[in-house]
Amino acid sequence: MDIKKLQKIHHPSGDIFVFESEVFNFPVRRVYFIKNVPVGGVRGHHAHKTLKQILICPHGAVEITLDNGKGLQEKVILDNPDDALYVGPYVWHTMKWMEKDSVLLVLASDSFNESDYIRQYSDFLKEINRLSKHDQS
Ligand code: TYD
Repeated sequence: MDIKKLQKIHHPSGDIFVFESEVFNFPVRRVYFIKNVPVGGVRGHHAHKTLKQILICPHGAVEITLDNGKGLQEKVILDNPDDALYVGPYVWHTMKWMEKDSVLLVLASDSFNESDYIRQYSDFLKEINRLSKHDQS
């Protein structure tokens, strides 16, 4: 898991959480957030071919599962607003809403492109196999 800490500036009037782009190795081209997901709701169920993402939960708790298609499944609950999780290409990921009104903020390396998605788990495993054969040759 690649989790970086955002800079946290504590103030009597409130806290500021700062993300400076050099912390991660890509320029951010799209920012969006997801809210109004019922507790227990699971989103994601896909991998990307090229997109790099950083997931931050500024409010609430969201459980992220990462699967590399080679038998490694990792889970983390994002419940600290200063945690920033990197999700790279070819990682199957799901996001489960653990608390009411949780918000998931996503910083992405590119604009939206449906053809960058792998939405079937069987296709994901085929791609992972193809890439690892390619790497061996
Ligand atoms: P998706 O990325 O599958 O959502 P999640 O990962 O949260 O489950 O996107 C859901 C729908 O929204 C899908 O039809 C694509 C569309 N969408 C956009 O049009 N633009 C965007 O920037 C995103 C992230 C999704």
